[in-house]
Amino acid sequence: MKISGVPYRTIWPIDSGCVRIIDQSRLPFVFATLDLRTLADAAHAIRGMAVRGAPLIGATAAYGMALALRDDPTIAAFEAAARTLKATRPTAHNLAWAIERQRAALAAVAPEERAAAAWAEAAAICETDVEQCRAIGRHGAAIIGRCAEAAGRTVNILTHCNAGWLACVDWGTALAPIYVAHDAGVPLHVWVDETRPRNQGASLTAFELAAHGVPHTVIADNLGGHLMQTARVDLVIVGSDRTTAHADVCNKVGTYLKALAAFDNGVPFYAALPIGTIDWSIERGTDIPIEERSPSELTHISGLSAAGVVETVRVVPESSPALNLAFDVTPARLVTGLITERGVCTATPAGVASLYSERRAVA
Ligand code: MRU
Repeated sequence: MKISGVPYRTIWPIDSGCVRIIDQSRLPFVFATLDLRTLADAAHAIRGMAVRGAPLIGATAAYGMALALRDDPTIAAFEAAARTLKATRPTAHNLAWAIERQRAALAAVAPEERAAAAWAEAAAICETDVEQCRAIGRHGAAIIGRCAEAAGRTVNILTHCNAGWLACVDWGTALAPIYVAHDAGVPLHVWVDETRPRNQGASLTAFELAAHGVPHTVIADNLGGHLMQTARVDLVIVGSDRTTAHADVCNKVGTYLKALAAFDNGVPFYAALPIGTIDWSIERGTDIPIEERSPSELTHISGLSAAGVVETVRVVPESSPALNLAFDVTPARLVTGLITERGVCTATPAGVASLYSERRAVA
């Protein structure tokens, strides 16, 4: 995707010892990049949310493993790096998925060749992510197109958090169908949940959509239900940080409430995700570890001051404690369908198994 007319990905190699990222913790007001040269740099970028979004966390972890192996290609170093990276953020499944892909890719590789092989695998993971997101875009755009045809007017789509190209290597998951449909001339408009406490919707999704010229409106997280009751939402599309084999969808906190409102109002609710987001080892969404983040993300808010300076201010009394759980689980029964790189399926064990028949069938 483009920023000021220049095509970008969210992560790209500079040379065999350095990978560059867009520092998302400074968007939308400052566009800056960061160079990652060590395992510690990669872990810090993930933990500090310079990179965020499940697929991009996975891509960064893959490069983090390669950077670690440049310094020490032993199995012990591989395992230590895997532990370090897996400890950065607990919910997004793509993190462990990418590390396990590295493990498989390096299984039969001699120590002196491991760093180069891991670097090549990280690049392959990134290329695969781009192609999968492009395919998600194609499959999801067909849903939007059908909706536009049936409605005979602009389609209003609600999304939560940021599951656009900034959350992936390119294109995005939930936003890819929107980009593909918009580029194909389908009239659409996006309701962008602000997504407190970190405001990924207001700061990142709005930034992306504006840069691509997609009509959109930022709304308070609590407005979605009312918009659905008053027939101003045709479709909800969200991303996912981890989806179970039974199709329970874990995503940014607040997603569940949107799904409840969509269900109550008969609004189709889709989650868009690539295979790396599916955790085949978990059947029930309640088993997914939910990240607890610093209360300061809730008690404080950052933005551009009238003087043009990015400032952080407190919005909660000093004496009030705050709880900041970053994700929630939407049970499969509230999900109309999953949009994946292999097509769209029902949010059921059989639906998931129909697209990924090489995985074990889930009862
Ligand atoms: O905490 P974040 O910003 O890493 O959250 C991840 C997300 O962007 C969302 O939950 C998203 O909807 C799914 S990841 C494509």
